[in-house]
Amino acid sequence: MTASSLAQSSIASSEKLIVALDVPDVAQARKMVELLGDSVGFYKIGMELAYGGGLSLVEEFSRAGKQVFVDLKLHDIGATVEKAAAQIARLGARFLTVHAFPQTLAAARRGAEGSGLQVLGVTVMTSYDDADLAAAGYRLHLSELVALRAMQAREAGIAGLILSPEELSATRALVGADMLLVTPGIRPAGAALDDQKRVATPYDALSRGADFIVVGRPILSAAEPRQAALAIQREIAAALAGPNTRPTE
Ligand code: C5P
Repeated sequence: MTASSLAQSSIASSEKLIVALDVPDVAQARKMVELLGDSVGFYKIGMELAYGGGLSLVEEFSRAGKQVFVDLKLHDIGATVEKAAAQIARLGARFLTVHAFPQTLAAARRGAEGSGLQVLGVTVMTSYDDADLAAAGYRLHLSELVALRAMQAREAGIAGLILSPEELSATRALVGADMLLVTPGIRPAGAALDDQKRVATPYDALSRGADFIVVGRPILSAAEPRQAALAIQREIAAALAGPNTRPTE
């Protein structure tokens, strides 16, 4: 997908930035959301915050007009995943991650049915390499397993996938235009890498076919988080405006 075809996308530019609220408690999360104000409309609540009481924020933020991505990477027997997804749907979340195993994908889709919740599949954790997969008993290479699971996620009828910027172009070619692709590992040009190894700028991730980008530390650890978020929103708008709009900074 090219930047110009992205301009046709029905997702509003300001919705494409998801801020990862990787903070340990509800008070810090609320403080950050207040600080960011209208510069961010979409937040990710992951395991750290969720297990620190943060699931209560899903309803609170949804009522306040924010969208919420619950990143709990569910994986259990089908009945349990289905009921858990239905509970997350009742809270008003927009996205929920599950591991991309066929039973789990199908169960999560059933649990989300009829609600506004969209299920995202995690293909293979990006901290794994071929040696990790072999040690866990897999015969496939990493890229083969990512491709297999991406296709299984599409067949299960879930909304999208979460994947690294490196996997975007190949996965977009494989699954087609209809699945949502959501990517972390985003670093604006010149930002610290932290522990991320394979990164892309917001502009490049969108140009390679991402529908949403997930950004944590470049905003949370910035001296002025709101300004950092606004700069990323400008870069997103530039990518969506078409080719040859790459920011020069
Ligand atoms: O701070 P940073 O921008 O690196 O945060 C990225 C977010 O995306 C974190 O919540 C992290 O857990 C998540 N994530 C990731 N890489 C993956 C999967 C999830 O960075 N492969």
